[in-house]
Amino acid sequence: MIPIEYHIDTSSFLNIIDNNKIIDFFFICSSMFQIKEEFLFNPKKYLDIYPQEQYDYLQKAIFDIAKHNINELWNENIDINKHFITFWFKNISDCCSDLHFDTSENDKDTITSILYLHDNYVSPTFLMLMQNGDDKYKLNDFFLSFPKKGRIITFNNKTLHGKFDMFCINQENFSIDNCKNNDRSLLVIKITKEKPKLIPVFDLNLLLYRLNSKQIDFNILLSDPDLYSYNVFNLNKLSNCKDIECPAKLFNSEIIYDAYINKPSFQLNIFKDYIIKNIDSHNFFHIIPSFDNDSNIVENTQSPDDDLLKQKKFNQRLIKSNFFNDIICDWIIFETEKYAQAEGWSTERHEFYPTTDIEIEKINSVFSFCTSVVISEIKSVIENSYKVTLEKINILDLFIVKYDETNQKSLDKHNDISTFTASILLNDNFNGCDVIYDDGFTVLQEKGQLIIHNKNHYHEVSPIINGIRYVLIFFIEII
Ligand SMILES: [Fe+2]
Ligand SMILES: [Fe+2]
Repeated sequence: MIPIEYHIDTSSFLNIIDNNKIIDFFFICSSMFQIKEEFLFNPKKYLDIYPQEQYDYLQKAIFDIAKHNINELWNENIDINKHFITFWFKNISDCCSDLHFDTSENDKDTITSILYLHDNYVSPTFLMLMQNGDDKYKLNDFFLSFPKKGRIITFNNKTLHGKFDMFCINQENFSIDNCKNNDRSLLVIKITKEKPKLIPVFDLNLLLYRLNSKQIDFNILLSDPDLYSYNVFNLNKLSNCKDIECPAKLFNSEIIYDAYINKPSFQLNIFKDYIIKNIDSHNFFHIIPSFDNDSNIVENTQSPDDDLLKQKKFNQRLIKSNFFNDIICDWIIFETEKYAQAEGWSTERHEFYPTTDIEIEKINSVFSFCTSVVISEIKSVIENSYKVTLEKINILDLFIVKYDETNQKSLDKHNDISTFTASILLNDNFNGCDVIYDDGFTVLQEKGQLIIHNKNHYHEVSPIINGIRYVLIFFIEII
């Protein structure tokens, strides 16, 4: 079953209630529950109306959504002996991925609906269809659903799903700290054909008691019993799913497997370039992996064209200020140190001129940023500055180096192995570490500044005096 997206009709035909306001109130309710505080919903009183009972829009929404799903997806009428409905709220999430399946005992059919209670453009729900009994992660049928208030995404228990951070940044307020603030507020409604065990039946008084103790006026939640004969929460199917083609190598099955099994603190900003321009008009995306290898990294490892470097124009080093802004620099350091906390820095990658470094390929988020954005930018800087056209380039090495007073302090004179080297300084607040070229030219690099030199340029790095220095380095081979 392909995930289906609905939205709740916010203009009730009765014109008595404003569904938008009620969903806003559900948002407030979401903070009244503990994490994973799941309840069994008893639909009996909603099938047989008891006028003396107290009714509420929360249970009405659950009932209307569940009834709709049972009718539409199972072609059955809601039956209290056959269909079991549970629900819970979610309003905080830890960074970052939490991919999982909603399984029920004996693998009975399950339908899950997620009702988004607010908009969130940075933390989509990832959905991936699995074949029956197939635990391989095929490169097909990925979906990303961005939370939008009043939207519902519905899927079955064969769908691997969960939070899968793409950006981990807020578009308006770009900051690494927002990584912790990309919460998604949800109401989750699950329907199974197996009676769940050890789940308490929901009692409205519990919610009212909690709201009351926080001095929150809950009158908007309470409903006129007359409304129970109507579908208050009408679901309209949305069909504006946007198909997005992405190079398959940007998103391989190992990344998903890793996110599913290891639940790492993990972001994937690979899709940013493909999706960000469509977010206003769509919030549901079908990702189609494209197997044409059009990445900037090519597998060819022919020797570089040394004749190219004999041309005088390449003796000129290139310096481009503000190649990265402060935010990008800070983010790369943040991601790198986060990785380093778990895995440490390596000191043995470069045999003759040892550096304290980390291969960027190991840091998924930064790697995807480099492959999808940075490499092509560097390529065009070289092309525009030297007035050449580079047909193909190969990245021989891509790493971040850390200089400090206790580990690597300096680097002896050497030349690099690649046709061109691009280095970007990621921070300031240190002293020392001047880049000194063989011909006496010394660079006091600025934060975010890009320097490009070639393999004829011998250079060294003077000792650090204090602080820490981070540099992102690309070894670029021209083919
Ligand atoms: Fe789930
Ligand atoms: Fe170097």
